[in-house]
This record gives sequence, structure tokens and C-alpha cells, in this order.
Amino acid sequence: MANNHEDSLVVRPTQTLKGTATVPGDKSLSHRAVMFGALAHGDSHVRGWLAAGDTEASLRCVQTLGVHIERHSESELTIHGRGELRPAAGPLDFVNAGTGIRLMAGIMAGQPFGSILDGSEQLRRRPMKRIIAPLRLMGAAIEGDNDRAPLTVTPAQLQGIRYELPMASAQVKSAVLLAGLFADGETVVVQPGPARDHTERMLSAAGVDVVTEGNVITLRPGNTLKPMDFSVPGDFSSAAFLLVAGAIVPDSDLTLTGINLNETRTGLLDVLLEMGADIKVTDKGLEAGEPAGDIRVRYGALKGVEVGGETVVRMIDEFPVLMVAALRAEGRTVVRDAQELRVKETDRLAVMTAELRKMGAEITETEDGFIIDGPQSLEGGRVDGHDDHRIAMSLSIAGLVADEQTIVDDARCAGDSFPGFAETVARLGGQLAAQGQLA
Ligand code: S3P
Repeated sequence: MANNHEDSLVVRPTQTLKGTATVPGDKSLSHRAVMFGALAHGDSHVRGWLAAGDTEASLRCVQTLGVHIERHSESELTIHGRGELRPAAGPLDFVNAGTGIRLMAGIMAGQPFGSILDGSEQLRRRPMKRIIAPLRLMGAAIEGDNDRAPLTVTPAQLQGIRYELPMASAQVKSAVLLAGLFADGETVVVQPGPARDHTERMLSAAGVDVVTEGNVITLRPGNTLKPMDFSVPGDFSSAAFLLVAGAIVPDSDLTLTGINLNETRTGLLDVLLEMGADIKVTDKGLEAGEPAGDIRVRYGALKGVEVGGETVVRMIDEFPVLMVAALRAEGRTVVRDAQELRVKETDRLAVMTAELRKMGAEITETEDGFIIDGPQSLEGGRVDGHDDHRIAMSLSIAGLVADEQTIVDDARCAGDSFPGFAETVARLGGQLAAQGQLA
């Protein structure tokens, strides 16, 4: 396919990164804010909302369902919830947003009208059986196309179930809990490990009776959702790119402010600390019912690490950038139990391995992870972001420490979760810009 130059990022070897930055609002919280605000009775006010490809898709879908959303600015919204949704005239288009379609499938399963949930070719390739199966157990009438999107939902009365999640997925957990809002009786989800708990926290803040005991979450329907008023803290998964950059670009000293530090999300912090990274965290209390704070990272020697088990789900979106850190660390890094990476926007194990090899890296890809012996130098070259935001940004961070220039094609997708990524890195001293803009 011909490449549009505006979609490419040019990255050059970078001396050092210095300064203070913040990152856009948390993507997981921003999806949930528009959905739960839409279901609430009254006006929800949200600041710091992430205006990015994925979350804008959820916002448009909610509007299509008859909910009025007032935009005071890109990131400040009032959601005029009326406690009910209205049928959409056509299919709901979630573009690339897996979180959007899977959570909304749970909500739509409980509506007294039918709907079709769809998205891009990329989203249509992602597995949906993981939500179709439990929703059907609840009585939902939901059909996929070979268990993929588009998903067709027809009205049905739901019953609460007890569901043991086959994988530690917050999206599946959330789809079941959200359907539980519209079900008869209580819904219980048992998760195998600590998947992100934003749905439970935000529903509870909205007055829903949802209780977590260990890995068992119980939701009792009946309470109407109260409107919410909060600021969304910065997305740890976006901060992760800057954290790794600060740890591997020589002499760097970066402070990232107002970042969501929910423990179900910060596995990468623990892993970087175990690798010997110079990181200090300052807690700043709760924001939107989530712990938030500042993170300071300074360049220093890293050593290889073993990652597996429950840590994996706490950093599931951070493995592409961990690969880059591992390439610069002394010794062997081994990642296990991360097979879920194969069903993200792309097969992130295969794609990162292939693209980093183009830069001269030696990586052993395993069924559920990878092995990297470091430190390795990277050559630069031409790589592809595969329309997967986390791949494009991880390759850009690799480019900062390569010996020669790197061009990351198909990198516009960074805006699916981190609009202003290139500008933020450049402001901190990174030699990185859209093609044609680097002096
Ligand atoms: C998300 C859950 C995770 C994560 C995704 C956001 C969420 O997916 O990868 O980026 O907001 O619930 P899984 O639940 O499929 O692991």
C-alpha cells in the first residue's frame, strides 16, 4: 500500500530528554465516563477527558443513541444523561476501539431495542466470542459474524449469572457487569487475576451496588446511576512511553504529572524498578476515585527481568514498550503468560518482534512472550506501526536510542490514545516529528 508521508514519524538519535510533562486523560476512564454518564439520571461533568480516536468513537456512539453531550472544550464535557438510551438509526461504529465495542455490547444487550455494533476492518478481526458467550448465558440475543463484529443485538430479558472469566480481561468483566445493570438478580464475576477495576470504581461512585471481595465482584441491579463530576487523571499507559524513554535515553530526567496510579495498571512501574530504573513516585490522592500522582524518572543502567503471572494483566498494554527497555538492559529478559498480546489491535508479540528485527534487534518470540538478551544496539531504519498506536509509539521510543534515523510508517494511529505524542516527546528534547517537519 502506498504510504502517506503525513502518517510517518521521523525519529533521530536523541542526546537527552529533560523536563516536566503531562499526558492526555486515561483512555479506559474516558470510554467509561461517556457510557456511564449516558446511563445516569442527570448531568455528568467531566474534565481532562481523552479526545482521541478510540474515545471519540465511543462518544459518537453514545450521541447516536440519543444522548446530548455538550463540549465546553475538547476535553471538558457535560453528558446530559436521561437514564435511557434511544434506538440508533444505523450501526454503531467503534472504529478501532475494542474497549468501546465490548463494553457497549454489555449495555446494548440489556436495552429494549435492537442494535448493530461494528467497527474498522481491524476491529472486525478481533475476537468477540469472549463477550458473546457470557452475554448469551445471561439470556442476551447477540449474534456475531463468525464470533466477530459486526454484532447484532435483539432485545431480550437478561438474568444475572455467576461467571468465571476464562481470561483476566477487564473488557469481558465489564461487559458482563454492565449487562448485569439490566438483569434480574445479581451478577457475579470471578476473575483469575487483578484486571483493571475502573468499571467497578466508577459504577460504585455512581451509586451502583457493586462489591469486590478478592477476585469476586458482585453487582446488584436496582439503583439508578447518579451523575458524576470528576477530572480524568493522565493515562499511565501513555506515560509508559515517556517512562521508558526517560530510563533509556542518556542523562534524561523527566517528571510526569497527574498520572493515574491505579495498581491494576502500574505493573510496568514495578517491573522497571526491578530492572533497576531510577523512578520516584509521589502520590497526590484520589482523582475520579482513582489514585493519581507524579512520576520522576532518570536515566540509569537497567538489568534484565522475568515477567509472568499476575503482573502481566497489570501491564498488558505496556509490553511493546517493555521490549524496547529490555533491548537496552544488561542481561536476559523473559516474558511469559502474555498470550493475550496476540489478540490486541495487532498480534503485538509477532509485530513488535518483526519490526524491531528490522532495526537490527535479536528477539526470540515464544508462544506467550519473548526472550531478549541485552544490551543491544539498534540500527534505525524503516519500520511500520501497523495502525496500532502502541506499536507505533514503542517503535518511536526505540528510534530515540538507535544509531541512525528511523522512519515509523503508519504512525498516525498514535492519536488513537495519545494525541500530541510526537509533540510531547519533541518538547522534552526528543528528535521526533511528522515526516517533513524535522529540521
Ligand atoms: C481495557 C482493557 C484491556 C486493555 C485495553 C483497555 C479496558 O483489554 O488492553 O487497552 O479499558 O477495559 P482486555 O480487557 O482485553 O485485556
